[in-house]
Amino acid sequence: MKLYINENQRMGVIAPEIYGHFSEHLGRCIYEGLYVGEESDIPNVKGMRSDVVEALKKIDIPVLRWPGGCFADEYHWKDGIGPKDQRKKMVNTHWGGTTEDNSFGTHEYFELCSQLGCKTYVCGNVGSGTVQEMSEWVEYMTFDGVSPMADLRKQNGHEQAWKLDYFGVGNENWGCGGNMTPDHYAHLYRRYQTYVRNYHKDRPVFKICGGADAADYEWTDTVLHECFRKPAPESAHGFMDGLSVHYYVGAEKGAHKGSATDFGEEEWNATLKRALGMEELIRRHGAIMDQYDPDKKIGMIIDEWGCWHDVEVGTNPGFLYQQNTMRDAVVAGLTLNIFNKHCDRVKMACIAQIVNVLQSVVLTEGSRMLLTPTYHVFHMYRHHQGAELLESYLEQEGQGEAVVQESISVDRDGIVTVTLCNHSLHEAQNMELLFVQKKPAAVSGSIVRGAMNAHNTFDEPETVAEEAFTEFEVGDRGVSFVIPPCSVMMFRIG
Ligand code: AHR
Repeated sequence: MKLYINENQRMGVIAPEIYGHFSEHLGRCIYEGLYVGEESDIPNVKGMRSDVVEALKKIDIPVLRWPGGCFADEYHWKDGIGPKDQRKKMVNTHWGGTTEDNSFGTHEYFELCSQLGCKTYVCGNVGSGTVQEMSEWVEYMTFDGVSPMADLRKQNGHEQAWKLDYFGVGNENWGCGGNMTPDHYAHLYRRYQTYVRNYHKDRPVFKICGGADAADYEWTDTVLHECFRKPAPESAHGFMDGLSVHYYVGAEKGAHKGSATDFGEEEWNATLKRALGMEELIRRHGAIMDQYDPDKKIGMIIDEWGCWHDVEVGTNPGFLYQQNTMRDAVVAGLTLNIFNKHCDRVKMACIAQIVNVLQSVVLTEGSRMLLTPTYHVFHMYRHHQGAELLESYLEQEGQGEAVVQESISVDRDGIVTVTLCNHSLHEAQNMELLFVQKKPAAVSGSIVRGAMNAHNTFDEPETVAEEAFTEFEVGDRGVSFVIPPCSVMMFRIG
């Protein structure tokens, strides 16, 4: 199989935020996964667990979405500020009916993002919150002068406003966020977004309109029809800067999504087929967006994506805790390749969710932590962040379905990153990467591979890991090698 790379044709910048993550007050994501409190025996800095923060820093996480998810449209931010012993407790009705003690709130979220060195993305409450509540939250977070909310923030110990990069106006308002019709949400969106004020003209908040569930193209069309406004000439922004889409995949056999670890070829094929469906979703939602916004000013924000399997046996069904195998790694690799190739429209994506929920990069059990196969894919792919996509063409041999899939970028130092997935379970492929003119000088590679069900456990945390890949030959215009079945690979070519 030949992979032609045109190093002279740059197709646009891959927004680093495509490699974003999502954290919700759900199961053990926030509490235990990210935040253990300052009194915990688990090593922490200001309550954030150090092992997890250090692991996440190594994959250069660019942005973290919070506090939900469905939780966002039930969250009242004022319950999560001030002295912790006086914070209101609430029932987390969506996720297991647990008691939420609000010990992780706005201040803790910004502290976490500062430790991670990532951008901030807060999702507001449209479903059960008021315009005033949303507007005051934005004032609390971002206003530096004298005002009721800025004064309250200062009283709670934070003198300076934080940098709020992204703000979502509700979540899944077609479902858990209020069961709205697209028209109804669109009208509310116009109103709520008006009061998401920009207190800093030099760093405006990027406003995200709540978008469709998977292939609900009518939702996308309706909200754009009602809410799309060309930015006024004197400002860079219209009513929205981004429009979201959510898409989850699994084997979905009957009433069950299927086990995360105990599955066969049929489930592998079904999951991979659904994951490859991301391409069509982006094309079709993108085509609707093009009708309103041909200059592609609005970003497609895929702020929830990933594999959704059955919960691990014996765990709380409301906690969505699942293991993570080579199947999840291959889904991550090929989905990120699809995002890279659509970097002209896709400006952010957040895998769901960062720790202990759905397709996580990190799992914890008490004081123990492990890195999942998906983590290793994010580690290999981090070089694409902020790089420029290169034109590429994969020439398949024979008539069969394509089993290898790629994306290629070049960074500021001229180093080319090639990422590849082979989703065949049985067949290796001879590969030849061919540049137009470039003569490869320094080449290095790494790989994540294993049997389809291979995964890491707390007793055997290194079963699936990123390994150096050295079995390649460098020629005058390219690199040749064999890509094993069920693997994700990365080359850096200088
Ligand atoms: O990620 C889990 C849930 O999936 C989120 O809370 C919701 O937005 C989606 O349905």
